[in-house]
Amino acid sequence: MQQFNTIIDNDILQARSFLEKGEVVGIPTETVYGLAGNALSEDAALKIFSVKNRPHFDPLIVHTFSAAEVDKYVSEVPRKARLLMQHFMPGALTLLLKKRSLVPDIITSGLDTVAIRVPNHPLTLQLLRELPFPLAAPSANPFGYISPTTALHVYDQLKGKIPYILDGGPTIVGVESTIVGFEGEDPVIYRLGGLAVEEIENITGPAQININAASNPKTPGMLKSHYAPAVPLVFDEPEVLQTLKKEEKAIGVISLNHAIQGLNGNCKQILLSPQGNLNEAAKNLFAAMRSLDTSGLDIIYAIKFPEIGLGRAINDRLKRAAVK
Ligand code: TXA
Ligand code: MG
Repeated sequence: MQQFNTIIDNDILQARSFLEKGEVVGIPTETVYGLAGNALSEDAALKIFSVKNRPHFDPLIVHTFSAAEVDKYVSEVPRKARLLMQHFMPGALTLLLKKRSLVPDIITSGLDTVAIRVPNHPLTLQLLRELPFPLAAPSANPFGYISPTTALHVYDQLKGKIPYILDGGPTIVGVESTIVGFEGEDPVIYRLGGLAVEEIENITGPAQININAASNPKTPGMLKSHYAPAVPLVFDEPEVLQTLKKEEKAIGVISLNHAIQGLNGNCKQILLSPQGNLNEAAKNLFAAMRSLDTSGLDIIYAIKFPEIGLGRAINDRLKRAAVK
């Protein structure tokens, strides 16, 4: 693989010039950082898969700058999809829609639907407006690891492999977009994410949730094990926590705003939102997981979050991080 002297900066012109040369670069979005390349180029897509070490059966999300642009790449838009586009583009919403033939098959892993979204980040929206093509971008982490929420997270893991990271500051949503497809007119949520189920259902009425595609999955980000730190993570098993405490383990605790009492001095606790705000907790989740992963702990223990708003996406990520 080609080696680069990776630059981190906020210069749209420079990012654009690398992308126009067919290179892949890190880009900020409101959810997590992406690893972006020309979505209409097979070669750029191949580079994304290889930098990320991602299996080719796992399709990429196409990013564009407006709902009107989306129509250039999709051939059918169900009525409720159109409503969601009006409300949440830009936003943390990815729609699965029938693709037009100009979208290369490698982007969709041969599926006839394309995942498409309009990210709500000023730098990236400007970049997309200036480019003559949309951007394919998975999260900018090695396959299976925690998604990056700062430019430095991207740098730590991909330095040398990409020429440029566009630094747009820490991401404000902090978990990946919510993925919604359609069965006829009916919305189906395939990945819980930064747009809450309640917000979607306010617009579409009740939505089916289908987030457990197992082997050779339709939405492989939904593999049971994903988003995983290197240190083992235990999620919502209070008896296991008691045993770990008795064994005097060095435990890293993640919770909303509840501190565990009686931990030894080698433990480390992170309260994701002392005020109990689930949006703030989502924003801080991945950075907290990364920091506990590199603190020399024996194990990470995560306390279950309330199953409302972004708490559902947080629980989903923690559950997958816990599977070994
Ligand atoms: O917030 C996000 O969505 C971030 C930022 C960078 O936009 N991107 C992201 O991409 O999370 P990625 O590649 O890490 O996750 C995309 C998910 C994968 O689980 C993939 O399987 C699914 O979207 N996906 C992509 N295209 C699909 C398609 N045509 N049908 C079904 N699932 C698809
Ligand atoms: Mg990902």
